[in-house]
Amino acid sequence: MTGYDATYAAWRAAPEDYWRAAARGIDWDRAPERIFDPAAGVYGRWFPDARLNTCHNAVDRHVAAGRGGQPAIIHDSPVTGRVETLTYARLLERVSKLAGALAALGVGQGDRVVIYLPMVLEAPVAMLACARLGAVHSVVFGGFAAAELAARIADARPKVVISASCGLEPKGSEVRVIAYKPLLDAAIALSPHKPLGCLILQRPELACDLTPGRDQDLLAAEAAAAAHACVPVAATDPLYILYTSGTTGKPKGIVRDNGGHAVALHNSMAMLYGVGPGDVMFTASDVGWVVGHSYIVYAPLLVGATTVVYEGKPVGTPDAGAFWRVCAEHKVKAFFTAPTAIRAIKREDAEGRLFATYDLSRLEALFLAGERCDPPTAEWAAAMLGKPVIDHWWQTETGWAITGNFRGMGLFPARFGSGGKPSPGYEVAALDEAGQPLPAGQTGTLAIRLPLPPGCLATLWHADDRCREAYLEAFPGWYNTSDAGVVDAEGYVSVMSRTDDIINVAGHRLSTGAMEEVLAAHPDVAECAVVGVKDSLKGQVPLGLVVVKAGITKTEADLARELVALVRDRIGPVAAFRDARIVSRLPKTRSGKILRATLRKIADGEAYVVPPTIDDPTILEEMQGTLAALVK
Ligand code: COA
Ligand code: AMP
Repeated sequence: MTGYDATYAAWRAAPEDYWRAAARGIDWDRAPERIFDPAAGVYGRWFPDARLNTCHNAVDRHVAAGRGGQPAIIHDSPVTGRVETLTYARLLERVSKLAGALAALGVGQGDRVVIYLPMVLEAPVAMLACARLGAVHSVVFGGFAAAELAARIADARPKVVISASCGLEPKGSEVRVIAYKPLLDAAIALSPHKPLGCLILQRPELACDLTPGRDQDLLAAEAAAAAHACVPVAATDPLYILYTSGTTGKPKGIVRDNGGHAVALHNSMAMLYGVGPGDVMFTASDVGWVVGHSYIVYAPLLVGATTVVYEGKPVGTPDAGAFWRVCAEHKVKAFFTAPTAIRAIKREDAEGRLFATYDLSRLEALFLAGERCDPPTAEWAAAMLGKPVIDHWWQTETGWAITGNFRGMGLFPARFGSGGKPSPGYEVAALDEAGQPLPAGQTGTLAIRLPLPPGCLATLWHADDRCREAYLEAFPGWYNTSDAGVVDAEGYVSVMSRTDDIINVAGHRLSTGAMEEVLAAHPDVAECAVVGVKDSLKGQVPLGLVVVKAGITKTEADLARELVALVRDRIGPVAAFRDARIVSRLPKTRSGKILRATLRKIADGEAYVVPPTIDDPTILEEMQGTLAALVK
């Protein structure tokens, strides 16, 4: 591969040639003749005449090429003490039979399957089994509560739900067993749409009762099923829906297609991560997030690499050397995690004593994403590892990195605090409010010139208009990332913050709007706002500011306890909502709109302009006092 500048210039000069060449990395049932159709879909569609099967590309073709004996997935679970490896040949067997079991339940091409699983081997197996049938999976993160699962079941309308008896969450030195079945039952009861059946993985740590007429034991159903072949689908057919936080309580169903996704992810592996057939990649995320979809499951398998599925935490399972143990034991070449995890490790092992006990000679680079990485964290990791630390910026919507640094093209010098330069396929600019690109070095809304490259969202599930409105209308001709940032004179992009009501808590994307909806439902709350407050470990944590109804005498501590419990119950523990304060009033415009953007700036300790439309400017000082005391 040539250097970054030459490759980026070649893409810009002839984007279709670039993607035609990248498409050669994929096995097609019908190879693409047409690369891009600008008239189709919301902003055009990639590979409109091609056909393929993603599971064939991720599994079958590697077995056919003689890699059947190579490990495909290593499941390393410090919370159970078990490590299990699936070779490509065994993965093929399991996926084909689980696909057979799903087919026996009536799942066919285009049908949806919701997957609500912890980090078990069956999570990638289930995703691939859906892909094999041309069915559309929608994985829901285990830290979400029943109501969130219900909202996703209601929107995706799955024929089948795949779940487990339990998840295992470390808490201090204990491992908590989290029963999934009651959450699943509650979600199905809440959802107006009911699945025809559920496949439940019974884990040794906790068995659950199966609901007669609805549930089957997943392993038994898989064992009894006939292997199912791959079903070729159109490149433009959906592979999966992944719900992500929007600005309201209703999550956005990001739709990923089969063809563009396979091409872009396959292409990214050598280019960005320097990972190819037989190499080992460890992405410490969760299959419930986009990072997990792309770099735990699909991309490593599309290139015939080995992927590590890790069921544990960066610290506490058993200590802050856990990630380094995994890297050493499984000979990991590329390691990918969130800055929060590195901060957690640094907090417990700042001197790198645990780190020093492992042989990391096979590790070549650390990749960070999911939230802004503060330069001290990246510097600490780089100094300790003595290897490249690559911050790269992306979103659930894009599915792969918008910017980064590219091992396959020879790295350019890293600048901590920046997410690197645009990947070939993306033209990035900071825009002013009128949608005009700003001069280098000026902060604006980061936007990507249309069309988005292959692998990015095709649309929102059954909501083309919401997709246009959310991403394309603000700046005609551009995709609005809703991230604020800067592009400097050398092309480095730095992402500073979101421009909307989304916060990033421990690398998890959450909607403050959704939390506000929950607080507002409490009978004592007259009005409320939720803002992200800086946190030295998790980056941001949510804080509720509530105005209580007249006559309420409950103490702040009691009300806060109830509100925390309510958010945990409705959204889930992952929201990490732990603090609510009673305030006498909230800053508003004269027309009564809460000034959330100003509150956010105050919470972040940033300079703010007193909005000309504010009803009473004196309240901002009061807010500053409340929030400043809380920033950790
Ligand atoms: N199922 C059930 N509950 C879950 C869960 C899951 N899959 N994931 C998290 N939770 C729960 C936690 O147990 C915790 O519950 P608690 O309130 O009862 O303690 C709560 O959700 C908050 O979890 P988390 O934000 O992970 O905080 P933590 O204090 O347990 O752990 C870190 C702190 C730093 C170790 C952890 O946040 C971490 O590993 N962060 C990295 C995240 C990451 O990899 N993100 C990838 C995105 S690319
Ligand atoms: P998610 O959709 O969960 O991947 O979250 C996407 C959001 O996380 C982005 O819009 C950014 O706000 C933030 N983000 C992800 N990666 C980075 C990064 N490398 N630097 C700064 N912010 C990031």
